[in-house]
Amino acid sequence: MAKKIIITIDGWSSAGKSTLAKQLARELGYVYVDSGAMYRAVTLYFLRNHIDWTDKTEVQNALKDIQLDFRFNEMSGSSEIHLNDENVEYLIRDLVIAEKVSEIASIKEVRAFAVTQQHKLGTKKGIVMDGRDIGTVVFPHAELKIFMVADSAVRVERRFKEMYKKKPNVTIEEIRDNIQMRDYMDSHREISPLKKADDAIELDNTSLTEDEQFQKALSWAKERIKSQ
Ligand code: DC
Repeated sequence: MAKKIIITIDGWSSAGKSTLAKQLARELGYVYVDSGAMYRAVTLYFLRNHIDWTDKTEVQNALKDIQLDFRFNEMSGSSEIHLNDENVEYLIRDLVIAEKVSEIASIKEVRAFAVTQQHKLGTKKGIVMDGRDIGTVVFPHAELKIFMVADSAVRVERRFKEMYKKKPNVTIEEIRDNIQMRDYMDSHREISPLKKADDAIELDNTSLTEDEQFQKALSWAKERIKSQ
């Protein structure tokens, strides 16, 4: 039987990481892990419980009360994040969360909490994980690393179309501001900033269809699996 590998997909907000990661996981029979969902679920918990995240002790105590796990949903065909047994997969996509998540993801204790769980999920390989620091920090020895980029106007338009279905009063300016702010914060933070790993393959999907990008990535994955 073919050996299993770890595939990491990092890149800018709304560059299409999760779409590609899910397609690859489905095709290869691998587990898909959305690491951003972990930071979003922690953000939801902090907001709901009025945690003062500038206070290190308060953050440490709050993290002790957070249990995150991914459970596969047959209906959606994908794994969904649970925060203390509650399915929050849809709640965490709200713009209220998107506005705070980059700040919370820059906290050292929060990152250590998430990375410990990400490591555990990768011990058996056969995993596709997307995020910002997966190829650089979480799995620096992953067999295939992809770094996704796309023109910022294209990313804004894609995210707008997606959000508009759920919240028709959202404006394109709100989406643009949020993406710009997260791009800046994610790539300028002190710990594990977003950057391309030296050995990652850059995938610019500005003018690629979903199927074209999938076929490219799948061929890279098959190559890496074969050479194991
Ligand atoms: O992928 P996403 O947009 O759902 O991620 C939400 C935020 O979480 C993103 O703005 C930065 C943070 N994040 C991170 O710092 N490291 C990761 N591995 C994944 C996400």
